[in-house]
Amino acid sequence: MTDPIYGKSIAVGVSGSIACYKAIDLISKLVQAGAAVDVMMTKASLQFVTPNSFASITNRPVSTNLFDPNSEIGINHVSIAERSDIVIIAPATAQTMARLALGFSDDPLTATVLATSSPVLICPAMDGNMYSNPATQENINKLAKRGYTIIGPEEGRLASGLFGKGRLVETSTILGHTRSIMGSDGDLKNKKIVISAGGTQEKIDPVRFITNRSSGKMGYAIAEAARNRGAETIIVAAPNMQITPVGTRVKNVISAEDMKNAIVDECIDADVIIMAAAVADWKPKFVSKSKFKKNGSQTWDINLSRNPDILAELDRNTILKVGFAAESENILDNAIKKIRSKDLDLIAANNISKEGIGFNSDNNKITLINREGVVQELELMSKYEIGNRILDQVSDILSDRQK
Ligand code: CTP
Repeated sequence: MTDPIYGKSIAVGVSGSIACYKAIDLISKLVQAGAAVDVMMTKASLQFVTPNSFASITNRPVSTNLFDPNSEIGINHVSIAERSDIVIIAPATAQTMARLALGFSDDPLTATVLATSSPVLICPAMDGNMYSNPATQENINKLAKRGYTIIGPEEGRLASGLFGKGRLVETSTILGHTRSIMGSDGDLKNKKIVISAGGTQEKIDPVRFITNRSSGKMGYAIAEAARNRGAETIIVAAPNMQITPVGTRVKNVISAEDMKNAIVDECIDADVIIMAAAVADWKPKFVSKSKFKKNGSQTWDINLSRNPDILAELDRNTILKVGFAAESENILDNAIKKIRSKDLDLIAANNISKEGIGFNSDNNKITLINREGVVQELELMSKYEIGNRILDQVSDILSDRQK
């Protein structure tokens, strides 16, 4: 299974904030991803949601009282702390953080945090003034210094009706951090992987440019997969609408020339380059400084000149090179030619003429071809899964190179 959450034991502490209802969504997604989730509720959280909500999602008992002789935690107060691969407190109120900062251990949540040696994620949620109060800030700093990861809060509309900083971060952000931490010991640990994404834009004049249909989804999905396997992941991104995966670093670029500079820079100390971007092969020879006016003409000839071939210019002796081949005919032949002309280790050939796959789709169907000519035709699958299949081969090639 390629999700680092799968099969993990995760403890989620829920404290008394109106944001408690969001914990239901978080826990549901953790369970769907294959985690065994132990929920611990503070006394105050029982005023907002009931243990039944969590028990029915997790199929496990919910811990609310350290001294209930009929509960697992009542019998062994450190059982959840010892079993959990990670502890997430969401929402974490000012009160709960104050108690954690002081090292309290009088309920399941605080006792588990105190006794665990696993990573702890704390996701604050409260009124804006309570959050900015020096008492809360001091407590948060203390917890961060102890090595706990503090996520958020975000700015937005608060329960008081006011706008401010105090909102619990989105579920997707908490899941991103969880996957990033759970995957940090993966097979790509200590490897730096640079991934290009999106479609470059080549300027014609101040208001117009030439671009292509790339959405960036493929590159971002590979980046998420690489992060989940422990790689230091850098996305060199041409303009796109994708959300940056937590734990990756993005370098934004516009043109092919910008992309080349950013990639050459990042690749100096990288192990792998995966070029998923649709790089414009051509750019206008002259960029007009002012807006091009019609002035009565019926045609407009734009002269184009070649952009650099970024992938071809990188040296395979210093970095493992993976390319994509966007083809509408003779897919395999053309992809194999590109392995030679660009001196690649691996290429993912993509039939762009088929509807429902490729550009802007969440799924894709590709064929992987390595330098030795071994062909692996993949089924239609999610771009994230494709990212993992590419990374499986990358991981093997990296191990072979080290031999
Ligand atoms: N690529 C690149 N620099 C370019 C053009 C493409 O680095 N100027 C990379 C792409 O990111 C991709 C691979 O080269 O990984 C192949 O890109 P593709 O568009 O399929 O082919 P081209 O090399 O542009 O050749 P053609 O358009 O003639 O098929």
